[in-house]
Amino acid sequence: MGKKNLISVLDMKDQWPDLVDLAIKLKAERGHHGAPLAGKTLAMMFEKPSTRTRTSFDVAITELGGHALYLDVTKMQMGHGETVEDTARVLSRFVHGIMYRAFDYKMMDKLGEWATVPVISGLDDLEHPCQALADMVTIKEKLGSFRGKKIVYLGDGNNVCNSLLYASAIMGIDMVACCPATRMPNAEIMLGAANIAAENGSKIVASHDPQEACVGADVLYTDTWISMGDDTPVDKAIKLFQMYQINDELLSIANPGCIVMHCLPAHRGQEITNEVIEGPHSVVFDQAENRLHAQKAVLYTLLKD
Ligand code: CP
Ligand code: NVA
Repeated sequence: MGKKNLISVLDMKDQWPDLVDLAIKLKAERGHHGAPLAGKTLAMMFEKPSTRTRTSFDVAITELGGHALYLDVTKMQMGHGETVEDTARVLSRFVHGIMYRAFDYKMMDKLGEWATVPVISGLDDLEHPCQALADMVTIKEKLGSFRGKKIVYLGDGNNVCNSLLYASAIMGIDMVACCPATRMPNAEIMLGAANIAAENGSKIVASHDPQEACVGADVLYTDTWISMGDDTPVDKAIKLFQMYQINDELLSIANPGCIVMHCLPAHRGQEITNEVIEGPHSVVFDQAENRLHAQKAVLYTLLKD
């Protein structure tokens, strides 16, 4: 069987429910897994900063018995003109998997195409699949199940929102992408997710009205209004997104047991208020922790012999 990538959530669509369960099982093992990935090396290529993705992948492969290698792309030959095709083929001779955080999904796709080892996205401008897996793990832990639950994503229809759409559709959660008309999620992803959801008996819809969207919500989710690589000025973003801020007023419209999620890093006073992120509905630090367990599930599934 050929190697598999995780560049889009859809690359592992059929395995997604198993990945969620495996992450929960590995979390319960509290780092005592034996060493199923002994002798395996993961190259981690970064074009942009990271705290969670870098650390969780490194700790994940270490606790599974393997080893991670941090590669700052600006310090690699690829940052100085070497092609991604050559980089992919060379790294594939040294390591067993490549994690890549890229500005441009076209570079991610090329790396995935030319590498002969699995390529895992650590985010690009289109998707953030590993974040969406940790999000599903968190929702299962906190709410117990997916079916009949409603998640409302508020703010910028970005990479995190795109992957969340696919993941929600696959797991059968209803999702509303509530964003300004000019910052809706990728149209093809929205449509693809809506089709998957229809097969699973759930609903994916768009809204521009937070007051209406948040009625009956079990999860409120947001992310930064200005993603890495986006040059929108802060004052313009604040004007555009202000009504999508997760605050006490929006939270009061949602279901009483509603959880509040954010992939982090957060900008308190912009996409979320300090009161809400520090309040009793917020699960953001459990969500961040679950990056570790989700990463383990991905690495185990893709790199184990
Ligand atoms: N959520 C997330 O991917 O965080 P980092 O940018 O710190 O990796
Ligand atoms: N949407 C954000 C996510 C950061 C983890 C970005 O791309 O910068």
